[in-house]
Amino acid sequence: MRSIAVRSLIALLTLAPMPVLGQEPRFHLPDGTIDYRLPKRVFGRGCGGPASLPEGNAPQPPDPSGNERATLGRVLFHDPLLSKNRTTSCATCHRQSLAFADDRARSRGFDGRSTARNSMAIVDLAEHDGPFFWDGRSPSLEDMVLRPIQDPIEMGLDLDTMLARLRSEPGYAELFRRAFGDPTIDTPRVAAALAMFVRAIASVDSRYDRGLAVTGDVRAAFPDFSDAENRGKRLFFGQSDEQASCASCHVRRMRTCTNAGPLRPDAFGSDECTNNGLDDGRRPLDLGQGAVTKRSADAGKFRAPSLRNIALTAPYMHDGRFATLDEVLRFYSHGVKEHPRLDVRLGGTSADGSGWAGRRPDDGPTATTASMTTSTIGFPLTSRDRADLIAFLETLTDHELVHDPRFADPFR
Ligand code: HEC
Ligand code: HEC
Repeated sequence: MRSIAVRSLIALLTLAPMPVLGQEPRFHLPDGTIDYRLPKRVFGRGCGGPASLPEGNAPQPPDPSGNERATLGRVLFHDPLLSKNRTTSCATCHRQSLAFADDRARSRGFDGRSTARNSMAIVDLAEHDGPFFWDGRSPSLEDMVLRPIQDPIEMGLDLDTMLARLRSEPGYAELFRRAFGDPTIDTPRVAAALAMFVRAIASVDSRYDRGLAVTGDVRAAFPDFSDAENRGKRLFFGQSDEQASCASCHVRRMRTCTNAGPLRPDAFGSDECTNNGLDDGRRPLDLGQGAVTKRSADAGKFRAPSLRNIALTAPYMHDGRFATLDEVLRFYSHGVKEHPRLDVRLGGTSADGSGWAGRRPDDGPTATTASMTTSTIGFPLTSRDRADLIAFLETLTDHELVHDPRFADPFR
């Protein structure tokens, strides 16, 4: 009797310091706080999305810098537990090595089915107030991040099951406590943490950024650029901020909310959905924003992801139809279709909603890079123009970002 009691006591004592089996978190984080604060930008920030979170769902004491929330968001982002059959995480379709896009025309969901559209690269969304997705159907990042989890093709998990799983999963209660002040696990907190992590993915460290920091002027030649890269940059930005150019759609303006003012040349990305003439609108294809607003004026309009890291995010466009940047440029050169909603900046006649006040691409001065000014549709480009534009677009790759350990998979 007594020896059994002693033996179990000894057994208990030897077991006590060891974690109960299965209670170790599956993820590994470094000790201490990880700094997710957004890096400084040469031209400051526009009025894009909030850098820190709205406080509505944050009991005291909140996490003022957002670091703990972003850390929790990082774990959630990489956790396949958020999909029905535990195979698929956000990172399955948003891979860090590919600038948070994937390499498929359409992504593969948790049970092998394909998504309707190409995965969007994630970068600099702290600068973007919404709308989100190719068709702008989501108004905020907190709303957006819950959608893939519940999407029947992407992750297929209902939110109640998600919460039950997270509540019984070792390690999460502590991450929620650090991020929100107490260990309650609820849906708004999951959304807030995921959104915070997504906002933390910011890019400022490409060769382009270094050149811009040196000259402070996007139209000056960058000393570290080759002639081809500098020429590609001139083609991309056109003669002036008022002229129709690649930049007029793919670079934000100083007053982001109204999309007005001079270009803010470190802010690649667009806030509006536009029609870039991928299709002529006659066949019943993806209507993009038009299917969301049910307005024919929005037919075939899409929001392009940021062109930062574009060399890493092939294939291109909402349906991944172009495998290479050269295919994209051949399209802009002679493949643009006369969709009734084609944006004026590409030579269309549709003036609504583009914020471009009816200006046509042949407005403004013609000069050395005359190939970008045209009275037809699209931007006719020679093979040298295309090569130089590609050389320029490749300078937007941020090699630090794709290797940054703060964004890496903590389950490895
Ligand atoms: C199965 C692949 C897949 C998974 C898993 C997935 N996504 Fe996506 N993601 C996509 C696709 C495809 C789109 C574009 C969808 C559309 O516009 O219709 C997208 C769009 C986005 C965008 C929009 C970016 C923008 O600029 O508007 C963000 C942010 C995003 N996903 C984050 C996430 C997060 C966070 C998760 C995990 C909770 C996640 N994704 C899971 C494929 C996926
Ligand atoms: C009228 C505005 C407009 C102009 C001008 C414009 N684009 Fe685009 N661009 C878009 C839109 C909208 C999309 C997304 C279209 C879609 O997928 O349906 C896009 C998509 C792209 C993509 C693919 C992005 C991705 O992640 O798949 C690249 C690359 C690109 N554009 C480069 C350029 C270049 C280079 C120029 C100049 C030659 C240019 N664009 C001119 C509006 C424009």
